[in-house]
Amino acid sequence: MMAVPGRTGSLDAGELSVRADFPILGRTVRGKPLVYLDSAATAQKPRVVIEAEKTFYERSNAAVHRGAHALAEEATEVYESARAHLAAFVGGRPDELLWTKNATEGLNVLAYALLNATLDGGRFALRPGDEIVVTEAEHHSNLVPWQQLARRTGARFRWLRLHDDGRIDTSSLDVITERTRVVAFTHVSNVTGAISPVSEIVAAARAVGALTVLDACQSAPHLPLDVRALGVDAVAISGHKLLGPTGVGAVWVRADVLADLPPVITGGSTVQVVTMEETSFMPPPARFEGGTQMIAQIAGLDAAIGYLEGLGMERVAAHEAGLTERLVQGVGAVDGVRILGPASAGGRVGLVAFDVDGVHPHDVSQVLDDDGIAIRVGHHCAQPVHRRLGVHASARASVAVYNTLDDVDFFVERLARVRGFFGVTNG
Ligand SMILES: Cc1ncc(COP(=O)(O)O)c(C=O)c1O
Repeated sequence: MMAVPGRTGSLDAGELSVRADFPILGRTVRGKPLVYLDSAATAQKPRVVIEAEKTFYERSNAAVHRGAHALAEEATEVYESARAHLAAFVGGRPDELLWTKNATEGLNVLAYALLNATLDGGRFALRPGDEIVVTEAEHHSNLVPWQQLARRTGARFRWLRLHDDGRIDTSSLDVITERTRVVAFTHVSNVTGAISPVSEIVAAARAVGALTVLDACQSAPHLPLDVRALGVDAVAISGHKLLGPTGVGAVWVRADVLADLPPVITGGSTVQVVTMEETSFMPPPARFEGGTQMIAQIAGLDAAIGYLEGLGMERVAAHEAGLTERLVQGVGAVDGVRILGPASAGGRVGLVAFDVDGVHPHDVSQVLDDDGIAIRVGHHCAQPVHRRLGVHASARASVAVYNTLDDVDFFVERLARVRGFFGVTNG
């Protein structure tokens, strides 16, 4: 057993037992112990994260990069050391990492930077006839900003298709052509749980000199991430899914790309010289971080990363692989339940969206809620993939590092009773 800084749980070979580090997991819901299976929406927070935010406010609260007093220096140190920490966690450099309030904002910053480049006539300007490619598996946050960018610039919006099991169909890579300027795609779908064929997509994009943007919201909390090995140009990260606080996210952008992207949110903290006639901007990352930032949340995210590093992402992934296997097999074996995504656990993370024949997803969730089980229902901000798989909405169970096989087994057992509860029978 290993001691891990900031942890009270034990770490045995292959199996993690960290529940005690997450205060919320000790509560009950409707008189039952909470079984939290909604981490793909937002993850629960270990005590070290909650404490880090509190400590920041109790000891170091001040605006960053703006003062010569001790607190301002401490707050700046918190802010910049967290940047270096997260950059290293994903294999990048500190000057390549921009703080944003969530992944959605990060993806919008990238899309709007390209729009501004188009308006300014910069290196990344788009022209009518250029093409932007996404996949049909995207979360709206990595679809709508690019669709809007295409609409505003006259670029053509195209997408990679999906197989019937929700995996990306690589035979549709021929939508990436000499005209493609951007390929934005998810690392892991928040509906199908499938891991995208990153190297194949990146190879196709690179062959035509297109920028690659990876949405790592559903991969970063579960798998080791190395932006250089992935070979992409930009990666969006969600802090609140990474055991960190809400209100913080980040985008990593390769230095030579970032150097030529114009700012998006301008104003205080982004500028060098301002006259009534014009403004010159700071080098990145400062020119992308207008206004007072979410410093306490960044301190919390710093602690979350330290916590995950203490566990080791390889071991997090190994622990979750066991949960994923059990979840996919368990849900797949329930009568009248159809998995929206690959039916086997390989090439997947631990989130399973499913359709219960004859029962509305909201009713599924309500019945499970009576047993203290929290799952997600709706379209999970991904309408096109639902449409592609032939449903309007689904239920989704998702695991994280703090879940156990008992959580999964209890959920599957209760799921198996849902159709009976509503009197739905086969045939
Ligand atoms: C794949 C994916 N992309 C983007 C997002 C948006 O993340 P955020 O809440 O940090 O904006 C989510 C959140 O559900 C997601 O699952």
